[in-house]
Amino acid sequence: MFELLGKQLRKPSGYWGKLVAKMMDKRNKKFYKEIINILNVKNGDKVLEIGYGSGMGIQLLANTKVDCKIHGIDFSELMFNEASKRNKILIESGILHLRFGDLLTSDFNNEKYDKVFCVNVIYFWNDLQLVFKKINSILNDSAVFCIFMTHEKEFQHQKFAVDFFKYTIETVVEELRKSGFSDVNYTFEKGYFISAIK
Ligand SMILES: C[S@@+](CC[C@H](N)C(=O)[O-])C[C@H]1O[C@@H](n2cnc3c(N)ncnc32)[C@H](O)[C@@H]1O
Repeated sequence: MFELLGKQLRKPSGYWGKLVAKMMDKRNKKFYKEIINILNVKNGDKVLEIGYGSGMGIQLLANTKVDCKIHGIDFSELMFNEASKRNKILIESGILHLRFGDLLTSDFNNEKYDKVFCVNVIYFWNDLQLVFKKINSILNDSAVFCIFMTHEKEFQHQKFAVDFFKYTIETVVEELRKSGFSDVNYTFEKGYFISAIK
């Protein structure tokens, strides 16, 4: 049961995937609101969310009414469908472009972003250097990359998430610096909000 939930969080699918997405929406809204604050998206920015799940974060970002373009990538077909349904109007109006694919293997065809963010996705990446270098390569100069990750103590109480605690905050900061990011900072409010500049 716990293993199933862990797998669903990594890549939601089918009936259980829909339930897991509802659970994530309830739990993660406050984290999305805070990361959107930190991102400080400006008019004209091109923003990418990695692992958008149900698309709630994208919807909250669009609700700020900043005149930006929003892109998203997620490798769960269910989440691609759910997020597309939820944000149909944004897609039709050309504000939002959603992709179904794996960040690690997707070709961005020289597309570059001003702000990139991910919420509760870092636990599923095994090689941070590979991931951070890929993200660095799709950023404009001085662009911002923000990560939200849960505090390790949370995982100790949640049986489904025993495998999720891979990285301490110190490791993430160091790996970001090693992959070419500067001004790496973080704040803590029930989890880590990490920001880095290209
Ligand atoms: C735990 S869920 C978090 C969803 C959402 N960000 C939230 O916090 O509610 C992780 C999401 O990241 C996606 N994901 C994980 N690894 C990915 C990868 N390498 N490329 C694209 N999407 C990925 C999964 O499909 C899933 O939707």
